[in-house]
Amino acid sequence: LDAQASGGSGTKASGSTGSAVALTFDKDDYTEVTTTITTDDGDKTVKYHFYKAITYVTKPVDEKYQSLNVSVPVEIDGKTVDATDAPILFANSVGGYMPSSVADATGVGGAAMTGMPGSAAPSASASTGTGSGEVDSGGNGQVDGQGETVSNAKLALAAGYVVVEPGARGRTLVDSDGVYYGVAPAAIVDLKAAVRYVRANKGVIPGDTDRIVSSGTSAGGALSALLGASGDSPLYDSYLAETGAADASDAIFASGDWCPITDLEHADMAYEWNWGSNKLGSGSLVDQTVSKELRTAFADYQASLKLKAKGLGTLTVRNLDEYLVRTFLEPSATAYLAALSDTDRTTYLASNTFITWKNGKATLSWEDFLTHVGARKKDTPAFDAFDLSAGENNLFGKGTTEARHFTLYSLRHEGSSSARLDSDLPATLKLMNPMPFLAKANPGRAKHWWIRVGTKDSDTSLTVVGNLAAKLENLGDDVDAAMYWDAGHGANEDAADFIKWIAKVTG
Ligand code: DHB
Repeated sequence: LDAQASGGSGTKASGSTGSAVALTFDKDDYTEVTTTITTDDGDKTVKYHFYKAITYVTKPVDEKYQSLNVSVPVEIDGKTVDATDAPILFANSVGGYMPSSVADATGVGGAAMTGMPGSAAPSASASTGTGSGEVDSGGNGQVDGQGETVSNAKLALAAGYVVVEPGARGRTLVDSDGVYYGVAPAAIVDLKAAVRYVRANKGVIPGDTDRIVSSGTSAGGALSALLGASGDSPLYDSYLAETGAADASDAIFASGDWCPITDLEHADMAYEWNWGSNKLGSGSLVDQTVSKELRTAFADYQASLKLKAKGLGTLTVRNLDEYLVRTFLEPSATAYLAALSDTDRTTYLASNTFITWKNGKATLSWEDFLTHVGARKKDTPAFDAFDLSAGENNLFGKGTTEARHFTLYSLRHEGSSSARLDSDLPATLKLMNPMPFLAKANPGRAKHWWIRVGTKDSDTSLTVVGNLAAKLENLGDDVDAAMYWDAGHGANEDAADFIKWIAKVTG
């Protein structure tokens, strides 16, 4: 049954030869669905084949999560569509590093969102007020005329692309023995296994398996970035073999990442560098001793990355603010203001006098920007909470241990000053972080990147996107990175442009 699941390392088969029956895509097993999708070019009637809840590994731990849906357009506005060689949007709907299932979806972009406890809840659905308890795959999508969100997945289908929506295990899953079986690195292992399933079915599954474009938002954006950075890394082989992933490449062509909550082991320090002086929503300052210690540690980390930016040289904490302002914040404010009517722009500028508007360009200072954003979302430390209450503490749980510290700083703050992280953690952290793969210029990485975050998103530091984009630029990859002015967590304000970008980079 699982001949291809053994071994796990060594050569990667290019096709499905020798694959178990269980991992063979049945192209006749679909339901035909017709739906109307609102796009920039008006409403489109899309007829598509919907393949549902396909288990993508031979030794699933939990099929509810280790399964994927495939949507293949066959007719758009009455015209026959052949998606045989179309790009494949691989849209995960992971939020909060929680379990994510597509098994109950009745159509494209309909993955049910698992309940989000605590502060790690993504505000994706809240920001558009659908209130349905559902989040569209691959992020919010853009808001159509009726105030409904149109997801990347739906827009991709309306553009004639194949859409694959993978489920994945998440941090809260626990079996009857009390073992947490969805903690790191389960989610990325599952997404890689799903990519391998698609690749192993090259020529059978519709779409061009060499043009897989991944998308995700927040934790899903982090996983999408990780999928892009870590393509074909042998570091996951034992995990992939254990759950019976197909023996095929898991490299992807392009990676679309919205507000990626990544580089978690450096996220506390980065957060204090960015938002350290911002007060909480309650109006109180966070512990300034802790904040300053973390901020100091960030300087060393930033220097260690040895990133370069045009006109600034090596990025350090001395010029990182200037880099963020020039590269992201000012262009973002400029685009926002340029799109407003003269009256609305005048009104906005009158109540935001920290912005200078001259010759169609906005300029501003980092300090004024921080004041403008106002309340920070998280206390300090933002990710490795002293009391182990953060979602990320659970993400790095292990066995029957629900939550662990994953930074020396928080571990030692709570325990002895010579405490050591559990010995498995350095390796596990690396499996969850795109940055080390990029530091090694992983040859299997995606070479095309779409990266977005809202300027008012304080779920993590804006340096996460800044550094990811800088690293990729330094590697010579094709990067389209931008921020949405005044947008909060989970925003996706240019989904139509992302769909066009896919056509461009895959064309
Ligand atoms: C998400 C948000 C967070 O603030 C976080 O720490 C992890 C994940 C999310 O929305 O997916």
